[in-house]
Amino acid sequence: MAEPTFRAPKGTRDILAPGSTRLRALVDEFARQADNSGFGEVVSPIFEDLGVFKRLGESTDVVTKEMFDFYDKGDPPQQLALRPELTASICRAYAEHRPVPPWKVWYEGPQFRYEQPQAGRYRQFTQVGVEVLGTDDPQADVDVIVLGARFFESLGLVRIELALNSLGSPGDSGSRRAYEQALVKHLEQNRSRLSTQSQVTVERNPLRVLDSKREQDSAVIAGAPVMVDFLDDESAAHFAAVRAGLDAVGIAYEISPRLVRGLDYYTRTTFEFAAPGLAGAQNAVGGGGRYDGLVEDLGGPPTPGIGFALGVDRILLACDAEGVFGAPSNTVDVFVVDVTGGTEALKVCDRLRQAGIATDRSYGGRSMKAQMKVADRSGAEFAVIIGEDELACGVLTLRDMGDSSQQRVAAGSLVDELIRKRTL
Ligand code: HAM
Repeated sequence: MAEPTFRAPKGTRDILAPGSTRLRALVDEFARQADNSGFGEVVSPIFEDLGVFKRLGESTDVVTKEMFDFYDKGDPPQQLALRPELTASICRAYAEHRPVPPWKVWYEGPQFRYEQPQAGRYRQFTQVGVEVLGTDDPQADVDVIVLGARFFESLGLVRIELALNSLGSPGDSGSRRAYEQALVKHLEQNRSRLSTQSQVTVERNPLRVLDSKREQDSAVIAGAPVMVDFLDDESAAHFAAVRAGLDAVGIAYEISPRLVRGLDYYTRTTFEFAAPGLAGAQNAVGGGGRYDGLVEDLGGPPTPGIGFALGVDRILLACDAEGVFGAPSNTVDVFVVDVTGGTEALKVCDRLRQAGIATDRSYGGRSMKAQMKVADRSGAEFAVIIGEDELACGVLTLRDMGDSSQQRVAAGSLVDELIRKRTL
């Protein structure tokens, strides 16, 4: 085959059927479970004012290196960015529309990050997720985490691990400050053993050093103080209530004291779902946590929030690794073969499709043999054959593609006959 003139941009791909059917089925299943738990869908813009996403943290990779940002054609031009995630957009929407809290929303769609592409890491990827805004009840944290865990289970995945941590509360009275002081002290004392990148990060955002996957940093990180030892009473009680709630519904988790997430807005509860069957850094199939300051940061009233996003592309890789959630069949039920010019095929297809019977046909007035070949390849259970003879008699030939048996059916009773056969 000749080299194509254009290819999909680096880090993006065309997802063709049956992969696309499988992706849609997964999103539909998530939608069903989110609806079932009282969440309503929000459809957000694909791009936002860049300022909305700057709130994800001025020192995070997502903001400093990975943003797809651009100027529009306005006067003056506005700086916009393709969304790298949806939590900030949802908080912006909350501040804009002020819905009655608690506001429980779910979403799905493409996100964009200028990352180095590899298996399970793309520049355009799909997330599904939920957010609950307007309550800091730890039972909301539990409900959200349970929804994620049950979703993985419903796909048939058995090897999903849940890591849980609390990052405490930021601010002067919160526990984060005392922890950060202890952490900075430790990192400063061991500065020479850190990678040059992490030495810079210590100054800008010490917590982020814990997120480093560089081998050189691992010993210093292993010896670092942990947040859970510094929690103030309120954060500790919140964390205990989240754990108790998960225990009550029987969701297994590991406390992971060094779990800091790649975005800066988190407070208190943070968690990650990992599929150990997938390679290294790409085994995070979802994550989330509390972000009690984000709505206010975006100009709204003080509003606590909790949620997660799951990476659909990676979940499908995890399903492949466990051999579960295969692509649903997207073959048609009936293939119409018409050698009388095609108008009859138009009419029959229309009638069958209106009756909810999945139907296809071929184009271009091809021979009976050629059309039968396509019918065979289509995987349809039945072929409806229309020749001059059938047309003259007002009948159709119905062929069972499995055993090749044929019968003539009055044109007017085709739908009933197919429904009767399918219920046998
Ligand atoms: P995140 O951890 O950045 O969190 O992304 C969530 C999930 O999206 C990851 O666990 C991963 O499965 C998937 N993902 C991220 N980047 C890529 C990529 N380049 N290629 C493929 N999959 C990817 C968030 O986005 C937060 N908004 C989650 C959240 C919601 N926190 C609170 N509410």
